[in-house]
Amino acid sequence: MQQVPFHFNASKNLEILSKTAFLTTHFAGKTNVMVTAWGALGVMWKLPVFVAMVRQSRYSYELIEKTHEFTITFPYMDLPKAAEICGHVSGRDADKLALCGLSTRPAHKITTPVLEVPGMQLECKVIYAKLMSAEKLNEAIQELWYDRQPNNYHAFFISQVVDSYITP
Ligand SMILES: Cc1cc2nc3c(=O)[nH]c(=O)nc-3n(C[C@H](O)[C@H](O)[C@H](O)COP(=O)(O)O)c2cc1C
Repeated sequence: MQQVPFHFNASKNLEILSKTAFLTTHFAGKTNVMVTAWGALGVMWKLPVFVAMVRQSRYSYELIEKTHEFTITFPYMDLPKAAEICGHVSGRDADKLALCGLSTRPAHKITTPVLEVPGMQLECKVIYAKLMSAEKLNEAIQELWYDRQPNNYHAFFISQVVDSYITP
């Protein structure tokens, strides 16, 4: 494990994010993982932040609302089975970690674990959450991504990166 600043390998990590990164949540002894390809890494309120975009319909949304934390894994190896399962199956219906054959390791500063895969890990604590307002949304984006279904909009979880490191 190598401790690194939150922006370490930023270009590489954003490239990975645009295809498949993993967002892990944990509540009441159960761990869930979903694929995420949308998000942002930056600085807000002088803090290092990751902004996760999670639709209200996701089980992950429910869990983040309960715990106000999650971890992000930028995998440094191809994980086609995990990408398929964690991007299409809901944690409401299955134990995705078991289905993928993946395990986790404890995080350092939060309760949610990180995925036990080679890659860069972010431990994130939510500091501001905001559900999208349909009336403020660009029309083209509305048509392309949302179908005007009420629970289909994303929440932006602006989260402080409280620890960041590379796992072998
Ligand atoms: C390539 C890819 C990227 C995705 N990115 C996101 C995302 O950024 N936000 C989101 O809410 N869902 C995203 N999804 C969909 C979720 O990963 C998927 O619905 C998942 O089954 C949700 O799991 P959950 O219900 O256990 O939270 C993506 C799916 C794929 C295949």
